[in-house]
Amino acid sequence: MICREIMHGSREYEETVALRDDVLRRPLGLIFSPEDLSAEVDDFHLTCYDDEGNLLGCLVLTIEGEQRVRMRQVAVRPDLQRSGIGTSLIQYSEGFALAHGFTQMTTHARHRAIPFYLRLGYVPYGEPFEEVTIPHRKLRKELMKD
Ligand SMILES: CC(C)(COP(=O)(O)OP(=O)(O)OC[C@H]1O[C@@H](n2cnc3c(N)ncnc32)[C@H](O)[C@@H]1OP(=O)(O)O)[C@@H](O)C(=O)NCCC(=O)NCCS
Repeated sequence: MICREIMHGSREYEETVALRDDVLRRPLGLIFSPEDLSAEVDDFHLTCYDDEGNLLGCLVLTIEGEQRVRMRQVAVRPDLQRSGIGTSLIQYSEGFALAHGFTQMTTHARHRAIPFYLRLGYVPYGEPFEEVTIPHRKLRKELMKD
């Protein structure tokens, strides 16, 4: 598996939007608008591929402060979920964030995905809330160099 950054607006980016639509939006009856996509032009777009170049998973990092980034839109190909791809993607993203000078990662986790983040060392804070029509919780992790 190879994880790497891709560029907003590239063919690879379009492929991540299709995956995010499939995994995150369409099940809720939502779809990305051109405005949603142009709003993330300054974000980091991170991906993992198999050896044949097939997209396995992706996420977005949004700068929240000098030292803090927010992880968003974490999506793994449905037929390959629960096979370790999400874990590898998050670990790669944490290293990427550290290498770019960020020391804290935050996320708004869907209720069902919270066990996944807890296992990776994320800590809940604040009250549960609703986003894109479903219950969420804020989580954060202090990033540390090995
Ligand atoms: C949530 C998601 C990103 C996790 O990625 P993944 O590749 O499936 O996760 P991994 O295989 O790395 O999981 C590692 C561990 O996390 C936990 N975990 C992962 N998904 C879980 C789930 N849905 N429910 C409970 N625990 C889960 C398990 O402990 C799992 O280990 P196990 O399979 O040996 O029990 C992925 O399943 C996904 O895209 N889900 C749909 C979209 C979504 O919910 N995205 C997150 C939005 S906040």
